[in-house]
Formats: sequence, structure tokens, C-alpha cells
Amino acid sequence: MGKDVIIACDFESAEKTFDFLDKFTDEKPFVKIGMELFYAEGPSIVREIKKRGHKIFLDLKLHDIPNTVKKSMAVLSKLDVDMTNLHAAGTVDMMKAALEGLTREDGTRPLLIAVTQLTSTSEERMQSELLINASINDTIVKYAQNTKHAGLDGVVCSPLEAGMVKNACGKEFITVTPGVRFADGEVGDQVRITTPEKAKEIGSDYIVVGRPITQAADPVAAYRRCINEFVD
Ligand code: C5P
Repeated sequence: MGKDVIIACDFESAEKTFDFLDKFTDEKPFVKIGMELFYAEGPSIVREIKKRGHKIFLDLKLHDIPNTVKKSMAVLSKLDVDMTNLHAAGTVDMMKAALEGLTREDGTRPLLIAVTQLTSTSEERMQSELLINASINDTIVKYAQNTKHAGLDGVVCSPLEAGMVKNACGKEFITVTPGVRFADGEVGDQVRITTPEKAKEIGSDYIVVGRPITQAADPVAAYRRCINEFVD
């Protein structure tokens, strides 16, 4: 499994996204397109970024009945992204249906990964509002095991949970981890964070980094620093 840094392109328009990507002349970073940009610009933004030679993680976190998710994934499979995702809470049947929908006629498909519990959900709220009585760690491990059982490739989780997921699901099971900050950088609204270096040590396969790169005075230097700490 090749480790890589994925830049979260959390911009509101294609124009702002391209202004940002134009700064990268020597490399083609792996980029994440989330709901904000996708809902603003539609599928054309995916095609345009792909045409520029970037790998794409389309982060739309699908969660619906199996038939709807299967058909939606079939549409997304035509966009030729490298990775996409859904909520493990949709059940094993939903995840299996998603995988079927995403697989193209020639048998190829993007990586499919599942969100376990959002890192913004605390154990207290999960128990009191969602009536899940298990601990948050047991829930994350169970959702990761369900994901593996459904045949998906891995999960999105906090870097601090990556070791636990690897222990339960094996080292080939992919962990994609947001919540990454430089040791000397701004934390912002993220809570359970770690540095690129530490994420590498714990066993993340891909780190998703947004503001530490997009808001940096020199985004290219910040991206290279992530690569140096996490990949090299
Ligand atoms: O700017 P920052 O580095 O915090 O960006 C992290 C990215 O990862 C954002 O696009 C955010 O939506 C996403 N993400 C997250 N935590 C999750 C799932 C996704 O921060 N549990």
C-alpha cells in the first residue's frame, strides 16, 4: 500500500479550486472533493480536475437504502475517481450494494471506503442521542469489521484510531485519516489530531490535510512538508 497525502480542496467554486491547484507546477497532488465543491459545481469539476492529472477522492459519504446507493454508485463509477465513500451505518447490505454499483463492466472500480463514526460525534452523544450503548472504540471497530465483511477496502477514521482498526481488520485494510496538523501549526476546530509523522507511525495509509495546506502562506511548501513527514 503506497502512502499518500490527500489535499482536502474545501473551496466553494471551481475558480478558487483552480487558483489553488495552479500553484502546483512540479507535482500533481491527490485531491479530495467534498460535498461543498461537488454541490456547487457538479460532476464537471471532477472531470476537469481528473483531466489535469490529479487522483481524486470523491467524499460524498452516501447513506440511503441499498438500491438507491447501488444506482448512485453506478453513476459515480463513470466519473473515473480513484476513491469514494459511504457511511458504514447504512449496514452491510447497503455496502455490498454500493460495491456492486461501483464495479464497472470490466471489473475495475475506485477504492471504496466507509466512514465509521464521524470524528465530530462524541461517545456521550452517540450513546445519549443514537442510543448506541457500546463504547465509541468498540463501535468503530465493529463498523470497520462490517466494512471488511462487505468487501470494501477500508475506512475513514481519526489517525488515533488507525492502529486499532488495523489490529482488528489486518494491515492491508486501508485507513484514511483526516485530523492532521503540523506540530507548530494552528489546530482550528479539529479535536482529535496528530502530526503527519505520528500518523505514519500509527499506520495511516492516507492522510487528508485541508487547512494546514490550503490556508498556508506557501501551500506548495506545506504540501511538501506533509510528504516529507508522512511518505518519505
Ligand atoms: O482543514 P482540515 O485539515 O481540518 O480538513 C479535513 C478534511 O477532512 C475536511 O474536508 C473535513 O470535512 C474532512 N473530514 C474530517 N473528519 C472526518 C471526516 C472528514 O475532518 N471524520
